[in-house]
Amino acid sequence: MLWVKSFHIVFVVSWFAGLFYLPRIFVNLAMVPADSPAERERLLLMARKLYRFVTPIAALAIGLGLWLWFGYGFTGGWLHVKTGLVVGLIAYHFWCGKLLGEFARGESTRNHVWFRFFNEAPVLALIAICILAVVKPF
Ligand code: HEM
Repeated sequence: MLWVKSFHIVFVVSWFAGLFYLPRIFVNLAMVPADSPAERERLLLMARKLYRFVTPIAALAIGLGLWLWFGYGFTGGWLHVKTGLVVGLIAYHFWCGKLLGEFARGESTRNHVWFRFFNEAPVLALIAICILAVVKPF
């Protein structure tokens, strides 16, 4: 079980690296001047590669979490609330994919301030999920 949990945490950390950095690239994309197509293309390439990289990692993090849950009989309110927050994270992940598509097509309308607030959501989720997973308050 400890091997499964170790790799669960490894892939969770890797997933969060993407969930923290991808919206940061969106902040920069939203600030790129119209006369800098080279910078826009460079940021878009980084975002595409990062999104393609962290999507299977997210699947592994979640798969190992479900293995822990159903393979080792964990129960408790903490796990249900945690899973609810993770469903929110999955929606956030695919929303990033949709926003990336809007940037690629030149259809993004949100400014960098909006993306700065958007960037904070995974931080709040991480704090709540870690407290639930470690402290198990209920
Ligand atoms: C559907 C997705 C997930 C499921 C079903 C799940 C389930 C679990 C289970 C059953 C454990 C073992 C708890 C224990 O050993 O006490 C665990 C550990 C852990 N999970 Fe998840 N998890 C999921 C996603 C995540 C995510 C997204 C995070 C991100 C912060 C996360 C963070 C942790 C941490 C830090 C631990 C270690 C807790 C400890 O050792 O005390 N999990 N997870």
